[in-house]
Amino acid sequence: MAIFGKDEMEGVTLDRALLPRHVAIIMDGNGRWAQKRGMPRSFGHKAGVEALREIIRHSDHLGIEALTIYAFSAENWKRSAEEVGALMGLLLEYFTKELDELHREHVCIRILGDIGDMPKGLERQQQALYAAMEKTKDNMGLKLNIALNYGGRQEIVHAARVLAQRVKDGEINPEDIDMDRFAAELYTAGLPEVDFLIRTSGEMRLSNFLLYQLAYAEFYQTDVLWPDFDRHAYDEALLAYTRRNRRFGGV
Ligand code: FPP
Repeated sequence: MAIFGKDEMEGVTLDRALLPRHVAIIMDGNGRWAQKRGMPRSFGHKAGVEALREIIRHSDHLGIEALTIYAFSAENWKRSAEEVGALMGLLLEYFTKELDELHREHVCIRILGDIGDMPKGLERQQQALYAAMEKTKDNMGLKLNIALNYGGRQEIVHAARVLAQRVKDGEINPEDIDMDRFAAELYTAGLPEVDFLIRTSGEMRLSNFLLYQLAYAEFYQTDVLWPDFDRHAYDEALLAYTRRNRRFGGV
């Protein structure tokens, strides 16, 4: 089905049937975007939330099943108190102001990461995150997964620990542990495989994001800084995906 006007995509149409089911995004470049404008980094994060809004709306419009975004890594606490404070403020504002609209759009929110283990003083954020998941848990629209206080290695170690405990308790045998059982202990349990990873701002790293889940994902990077990543840039990325030849190790 053609969804672009000729002016938007130079006559190219995007075939919805070929779109990824699950898109993951590393939203990078907020700081540089702000610095280029002589503004503090928090200004870039604020603009980043606007970009995120547009990408969520467009994902929903395109019928993408799951969107997973990297909002705050387990390592991001190392940033200055000012920047962490600004990000946590934006987070609270986002979940307070946007929740009703997301719910109306049938978006189902899941937080990936250890929200029980956030520093003291962030209780309001924690409550808002739990409330967002609870309110939207039965929604059947876009599955919006927000990685927060998230680390891929930490997630894998956590899963290994849970399974080791089950073996110790005599519930399962070591040989029962296969890929399905392992994946069932990850934050992404039950979600479709990640098909497509987008990273903005020209960096070519995984930064501890979805290390298990990205095994066969197609990777796309663009020099566009996250606050400038609009639906047209997203369409371009998705078009590139539809032209990939995925082989999953075969020929
Ligand atoms: C990376 O850019 C971006 C982040 C660490 C934060 C991303 C967060 C948002 C877009 C908004 C918060 C999310 C929600 C759900 C409200 P960077 O700061 O590392 O940029 P740089 O590489 O240019 O310094």
